Amino acid sequence: MSDNAFVVVTGGAGFIGSHTVDRLLNQGCRVAVIDNFSTGRLENLAQWKEEERLEILTVDIADGIFASLSALEERWGPVERIIHLAAQTSVVHSIDSPLGDVRTNYTGTVQVLEYARRKKVKKIVFASSAAVYGDVEEFPVREDFVCSPLSPYGINKLSVEFWLGYHSKVHGIDTAPLRFFNVYGPRQDPSSPYSGVISIFADRCSAGKDLTIFGDGEQTRDFVYVGDVSRAIVLACFAKGGDGSPANIGTGLETSVNDLATLINEFCGGKSTISHGESREGEILKSVADVSRAKERFDFSAKTALRDGLKDTVTALTGG
Ligand code: UD1
Repeated sequence: MSDNAFVVVTGGAGFIGSHTVDRLLNQGCRVAVIDNFSTGRLENLAQWKEEERLEILTVDIADGIFASLSALEERWGPVERIIHLAAQTSVVHSIDSPLGDVRTNYTGTVQVLEYARRKKVKKIVFASSAAVYGDVEEFPVREDFVCSPLSPYGINKLSVEFWLGYHSKVHGIDTAPLRFFNVYGPRQDPSSPYSGVISIFADRCSAGKDLTIFGDGEQTRDFVYVGDVSRAIVLACFAKGGDGSPANIGTGLETSVNDLATLINEFCGGKSTISHGESREGEILKSVADVSRAKERFDFSAKTALRDGLKDTVTALTGG
């Protein structure tokens, strides 16, 4: 039961985090958001401005969370569950700045886990990533494939999965790493060249600007809607028996970048010209998740059809 549970959401003002906070509050939970606001935004939680069950703390996880959460615990009682989403989120940035990625995605995360261990938190859900796999040759991608990450980001996410396994086996904490595939939806930031393709295409199309597809556009991805992802997170958070082994969070369906561009342009009235540019260096040509483990473990399957999710994404941008 999730009623009245006290859940800490790190990164709770971010893209996936704020949707997760919406869901937890709607289910009756009490929520503390920890965010350093490097990419998180207060506007993402503006709908909860008057909500007494929500407290927002401006804290960097790499500086430790003990002091800030202690005061809260005196008022609210012990933290029961932690959903750890705070992260440096750019794969490309991690390649340029590996130590920065280690600081947040590894050391910062281990500090959160240390808090959980000392405070005897019941459950930790962790935002891992399909980036842990690297190049694979068999599809759909299963959790038991050998991982060979191609970036510091992927290495640090995979390393934290080992920490979660350790915390489950040695300290008896329920832990659930979730390997997100390509998440999209309202509130995703389109402003960097390394932003998710859907946020870039939706932003450009809704302003009538041209789209550039990298390469021939036949490369595929498993695009999963943020509303489904937040549902998976909350299901995993209240499911029993997380032993630190990961579960893919995707749809099990693959979509080419060509089809994606056509669909988004269609929703925006077909005003954009679609052209092809150079292929991205190191481009993965195919990605699609095997989704059976999440179904077995916590009865999750993605429900939002790409068309519906894209429509919501475009509508959120155009306000229409
Ligand atoms: C993800 C990372 C990326 C990293 C790559 C390494 C995100 C958002 N991106 O890329 O930083 O380098 O893993 O494995 O996490 N595309 C276009 N036009 C655009 C933007 C993208 O055609 O303007 C294409 C890309 O070439 C790719 C697809 O869209 O084929 C998806 O791109 P993206 O959203 O960046 O995700 P990943 O490729 O999975």
